[in-house]
Amino acid sequence: MMTADYKLLDSQLRGLLDDETDALAATSNFVALLYNALEDVNWLGIYVLRSNELVLGPFQGKPACVRIAIGDGVCGAAASTLNTQRVDDVHAFPGHIACDVDSRSELVVPLVSNDQLIGVLDIDSPTLARFSEADQSGIEKICKTFCRLQETRERFI
Ligand code: SME
Repeated sequence: MMTADYKLLDSQLRGLLDDETDALAATSNFVALLYNALEDVNWLGIYVLRSNELVLGPFQGKPACVRIAIGDGVCGAAASTLNTQRVDDVHAFPGHIACDVDSRSELVVPLVSNDQLIGVLDIDSPTLARFSEADQSGIEKICKTFCRLQETRERFI
């Protein structure tokens, strides 16, 4: 599988979001851009931090669980450690929350804006070990760009 062109995606994201002031619209387009650019992904979306839990935000894929406690599952682990979670086999991850039964590997990146956790980006694939180190660093960079652009906007809805 070809690694996505993350540099190109980063500049497309800037072009898409630069002039938009609405956080929800910007986030929805961020998710749609990434979902359509990545091969072999069955779910991609944002969980927003709200009152100390993660709540489902804009996403592409099948309907998913709505609330995740900090520390629970792969998303909760990313939120509590503030470290990206790259999981080659979700069945081997203790406490993994199965939203889409097709998911086999997962990448979750914490989203930090103005030095505060605002949510996580969650990407699921039906293929074991879908995400390489290059995918992780490319997607982390794009998330940084997204978070920097979010700093200029009001918080999510
Ligand atoms: N698998 C995630 C839950 C979210 S869904 O994959 C969309 C987790 O373990 O946190």
